[in-house]
Amino acid sequence: MAVDPVGRRQSGMPSTPVSTKTQVAVVGAGPAALMLTHLLARAGIESVAIDLRSRQEIEETHRAGILEQDSVDLLVDTGVSERVLRDGYRHDGIELAFGGGSHRIDFQGLVGAATQLYPQTDVFIDLADARERDGGDVRFGVTDVSVDDLTDSPVVRFIDSNGQGHQVRADFVVGADGSRSLCRRTVPKAERQQYFREYPFAWFGILAEAPPSAPELIYSHSPHGFALISQRTETLQRMYFQCDPTEDARTWSDDRIWERLQTSVGANGYTLKEGAITSRTVLPFRSFVQEPMHHGRLVLAGDAAHTVPPTGAKGLNLALADVRVLAEELERAVTQDDLAPLATYSKRALARVWKAQHFSYRMTTMLHTLPHATPFDVRRQEGELAALTGSVAGSTYLAEAYTGWPAR
Ligand code: PHB
Repeated sequence: MAVDPVGRRQSGMPSTPVSTKTQVAVVGAGPAALMLTHLLARAGIESVAIDLRSRQEIEETHRAGILEQDSVDLLVDTGVSERVLRDGYRHDGIELAFGGGSHRIDFQGLVGAATQLYPQTDVFIDLADARERDGGDVRFGVTDVSVDDLTDSPVVRFIDSNGQGHQVRADFVVGADGSRSLCRRTVPKAERQQYFREYPFAWFGILAEAPPSAPELIYSHSPHGFALISQRTETLQRMYFQCDPTEDARTWSDDRIWERLQTSVGANGYTLKEGAITSRTVLPFRSFVQEPMHHGRLVLAGDAAHTVPPTGAKGLNLALADVRVLAEELERAVTQDDLAPLATYSKRALARVWKAQHFSYRMTTMLHTLPHATPFDVRRQEGELAALTGSVAGSTYLAEAYTGWPAR
């Protein structure tokens, strides 16, 4: 069917659109969007969240699995999840492996904090269940989404999964619609700045039916490339190794994958427990920020406003930190019909975003091997890792950044 540039059907509109009003329309229904609508509902603010993807599609997207302490507290304290404590695994540190050995960063000892291994898909399931339990208005599998009049009187149009057209007028619109955000693109060029960084490598990610190879995560740097040994459960493991961004995951046999992983971590004294590989994907790397994170009556949150490379697992944590601040500022904006809190949100969120951009960039460039790395490059990286792990000041920075800066 023909669709005009903003996605409205030109012909064959199934029926007259249903017109409704809400206080906050949220484009996206991933973890950031659902956490936000949950927090807004607790403050007595109405919302509608829509997503192009079905609930099942979102559940089946594998993402990172490490939550900062504040992310765990947000899920527990606001009544979204107890499962995060029951089914998650507390990690009090990580291993940084390089130069033929391994060095533990002791989060508890250095900053008195921990992280929780709990996959993003489970965070999403808990949030979607909580919204359903609380009667939240969440529409998955919608099509033909468009947003208009964002500076004045915002309207979000879409067709629901039954083919019914909708037109939702809202006081404010939140673009929590991921790294390919439609909302982000509605901000005029003259009113926003975009910052990019591409990397000449990607991650080859697998899920393997095997017991854990170590009690905590291993970030392994070696001349054979970076590898990350993570976990999911007692019987399922998540691992990654550095690859070319154009790599085709389907062409790799299990044997070839295991050999590559064993060589990378073997250089630092580890041996992995192997098993059947049940999933394999190539994850591209990119750093991106769009500033400011507001325009008129639109605000951006999570991946729609910023992307970090996955080294250090900041993506979901940053998105949750965004919406914690956004819920506070939106509450002010809605109750006082004032735009000023949106600018305050952008400023508060960006302060954390740039710290996380730096941390993710540093973890990435410190641990990966550049495609044409010289022996000097590799030895310099080992020097950086030794300086960091061999000093309390260096290790404390890493522990603080990894477990998450205090909320502001
Ligand atoms: C994961 O478990 O998927 C994971 C953990 C740590 C990272 C990235 C991904 O830095």
